[in-house]
Amino acid sequence: MTVAYLNGEFQQLEDIRISPLDRGFLFADGVYEVIPVYSGRLFRADAHLQRLERSLAAIRIEDSLGRDGWHALVEELVERNGGGYQALYLQVTRGAAPRDHAFPAGVSPTVFAMTRTIDSDPHSPALHAVIRPDIRWSRCDIKSVALLGNVLLRQEAQDAGAAEAIMIRDGVLTEGTATNVFVVGGDGLRTPPKSAHILGGITRDLLIELCHDADIDCREEPITEAELRGAEEIWVTSSTKEVVPVVRLDGDPVGAGVPGPQWQRVHGLFQDFKRRLVRGDVD
Ligand SMILES: Cc1ncc(COP(=O)(O)O)c(C=O)c1O
Repeated sequence: MTVAYLNGEFQQLEDIRISPLDRGFLFADGVYEVIPVYSGRLFRADAHLQRLERSLAAIRIEDSLGRDGWHALVEELVERNGGGYQALYLQVTRGAAPRDHAFPAGVSPTVFAMTRTIDSDPHSPALHAVIRPDIRWSRCDIKSVALLGNVLLRQEAQDAGAAEAIMIRDGVLTEGTATNVFVVGGDGLRTPPKSAHILGGITRDLLIELCHDADIDCREEPITEAELRGAEEIWVTSSTKEVVPVVRLDGDPVGAGVPGPQWQRVHGLFQDFKRRLVRGDVD
């Protein structure tokens, strides 16, 4: 049984009811966030909540809770669901109103949160990916619930026997359908710079920080499709996947076709960060 949250009240997830006039349902007019919880401790809670605030501001939805309100909500939800290992999902929409594209007046946002349990060790299995054109809109930096492009491309990946689609826009790599991408090649370790065409991933940012602290050169630079195809190593990152090596791209092996030495090292740094988080040494 999962305890969820809707507009100020904690309830069983299966008892939650949302209006069919909710603009999240009618227009995908809303934003979301996913925060992993390891042994009851939230992973980079402030960074996630800051990104939620940024997404809300970008689509002009008022943040009715504020940072302290969000902290209190997520901590209570984790506790009510027994701590441990969870993925918290938060969603805010513009609220329920008669269907009309323009913003409705005097309507309160819908604030929803739920959680699911996750493995304490996801084992980061290697995955296969395909390359696809980035068919999404031009504000991918907003963590919007309008994910149809991502959904269609992820299904194309699955239909091709792969687990992720890595997207190309104007000849350069943007990101995966639900992941950021790191590439090791002749030019060292790189990831695309932040822009309106990618989501600024919290895991991505942490990885850059961990590389910096370990004196590993990691540059934020554009990566061409040819560089992606010729990479020695490719990794995808996200809050729920962590850091996962891509061992086949469009059916061809990436490097030696097995997780590479750079991934082994950075994966080790990430797992060490998680251990420190669980001990309460970092957040
Ligand atoms: C499109 C997209 N890019 C990147 C990411 C990775 O972001 P994070 O590391 O914050 O989970 C996600 C996560 O869901 C995503 O949906």
